[in-house]
Amino acid sequence: MSSEEMDFLYHGLLLPRETHSVESLKFADEFTFKDDDVVAATYPKTGTIWMQEILPLVLSGGDLTPIQTIPNWDRVPWLEEKRLAVVVDKLTSPRAMVTHFPYHLMPPSFHASKAKVIYVMRNPKDVMVSSYYFHQMAGFLKDPGTFDEFMDTFLEGKVLFGKWTDHVKSWRHTELGDRILYITYEEMVQDLPAALRTMSDFLGRNLSEEVIQKIAEHCSFKAMKVNTMSNFNLVPKVLMDSDKSPFLRKGVVGDWRNHFNPEQLAKFTSVIRKELENESFSLPWSLD
Ligand code: A3P
Repeated sequence: MSSEEMDFLYHGLLLPRETHSVESLKFADEFTFKDDDVVAATYPKTGTIWMQEILPLVLSGGDLTPIQTIPNWDRVPWLEEKRLAVVVDKLTSPRAMVTHFPYHLMPPSFHASKAKVIYVMRNPKDVMVSSYYFHQMAGFLKDPGTFDEFMDTFLEGKVLFGKWTDHVKSWRHTELGDRILYITYEEMVQDLPAALRTMSDFLGRNLSEEVIQKIAEHCSFKAMKVNTMSNFNLVPKVLMDSDKSPFLRKGVVGDWRNHFNPEQLAKFTSVIRKELENESFSLPWSLD
């Protein structure tokens, strides 16, 4: 498949044809949200599949059945992807979904509902590194070229779901009030039980310490890496080749230090800073 045929534009955002279609986007736009639905909103490579592991466990008080028997893409489907229409009738309430949509592409029924959102943010330098390896292993994405070339592609927003800064800004400027919880990938790595407590309180679940510890154990990088329902090993190699780079690759904070040279760091930092300079929110990490 030529690279032009691999993706298409939707409201100016690049989406891969393998997982998205005109029909799936129409389905998302016409989707009826329920008040007790929960959505994890993420820019790609921010820990989306981590949330697909966490949400069913938190919502059910630690029932392991979904994470042991249902592949992540059907267990907590992407709002905008083709699989939602296939599995929607099998989802049990409270339903959990994920989305890479920026806020302004969320469908009308989402705004009319009381559905809650957990917005996960990750240091964009680590997002870019993760994305670079993902582009190498995913057969349905364009070859990223060199790291230097990919940095330009990333900073120009010519990657899936556009610019990182636009995504973050869109979800920071919402009228969602207490319907949205902001959390970072870094907080989750640093202290997963604490992050789980925050999420469980936000979702109105009063989970015991024992259940929190059990969930943390099953959502650890190590546990997810060997869970065939979560590590994408069920996907044919031509689509995702874990020999090139596993989906659950490193799961750490700060891998950018192993990839950025000083010039790249200066360039990356100045572009991101400039794009956020008039924003009222501040980033939780230093970009230097
Ligand atoms: P790395 O490539 O840096 O390892 P997404 O699901 O949004 O595509 O994000 C994928 C990134 O989240 C990958 O980052 C992956 O390893 C990381 N990730 C997934 N589950 C994780 C976990 N339990 N703990 C830490 N990182 C996790």
